Amino acid sequence: MRHVLDVQQFDPKLLSLIFKRTSEIQSHFKSKHAAHNERSLSGKMMFNIFYEPSTRTRISFASAAHFLGMEVVNTENAREFSSAIKGESLEDTIKVLCQYNPTVIVLRHNEEGSALRAANVSTVPIINAGDGGGQHPTQALLDLYTINQSKGRTSNLSVAIGTDLLHSRTTRSLCYLLAQYPKNSLILVSPKTLRIGNDLRSYLIEKGTNFEETDNLDYALSKADVVYWNRIQKERFTGRAPKQTYIIGPPQMDIMKRDAILMDPLPRVDQIDPRVDSDKRAIYFEQAGNGMFVRMALLEWVTEIF
Ligand code: NCD
Repeated sequence: MRHVLDVQQFDPKLLSLIFKRTSEIQSHFKSKHAAHNERSLSGKMMFNIFYEPSTRTRISFASAAHFLGMEVVNTENAREFSSAIKGESLEDTIKVLCQYNPTVIVLRHNEEGSALRAANVSTVPIINAGDGGGQHPTQALLDLYTINQSKGRTSNLSVAIGTDLLHSRTTRSLCYLLAQYPKNSLILVSPKTLRIGNDLRSYLIEKGTNFEETDNLDYALSKADVVYWNRIQKERFTGRAPKQTYIIGPPQMDIMKRDAILMDPLPRVDQIDPRVDSDKRAIYFEQAGNGMFVRMALLEWVTEIF
């Protein structure tokens, strides 16, 4: 079965297949025949089971499924509104959901490792839509697709990544993914207390990926081809979360290369000044838009349409 659990399961060859299909779907959308011509999963059903808040991931998966002809069953806030509140285990919930014949289950959960636990008992593919502080593989795929679309390559890039590298699953997944391509160098920007964990550090070393850790924002911005920013993940702190100190505003944009791009998985809280939105290098809204197309291709891949 083709689950989507983490980014290490995707190699560059498979990714280029998925991205090829993504850009095909995207160009169909732009053509006159428009959206409604991808009905490859008509009559199938997708469950969107979300234990944590989401806007983009949940809605873009639902939209992706819709344009592929699928029915969607959604549970938002499953932590409170599912039987989890009565004490049901994730494993039992997944076993029950499988009885209703979904084709695929998209799962966002607050615990790291939850997607794998679900996959271990599921009779249908599980797509990890974020497992606590673990990974967010579909986000990383859409991030890399966006990088490729803008920069024309996925290797030989200098990528500045910030700011809560300890807790952010999107920055983690992106680092794991960029490490699969040659000659990428990562400039990891964060306060000392929010640096990457040892698991990711060991992986980067093992892969021979060039990376440096710094708290110097201006230095990182001046060197990067891609700047990937993400908020402080305040929900992952047991005590009080620190204030955001790495804010990208107009003065920081002046430091960035003229052909660099600024990305963010969003939501934006305080990490990017809205005045930056009009700068053509700020592509976070297009990035979010790409999410639907990548997820359409992924739904086709997990269901073995290609
Ligand atoms: C991210 C997440 O949920 O990890 N959001 C998203 O899916 N685009 C990033 C975040 O919440 O900061």
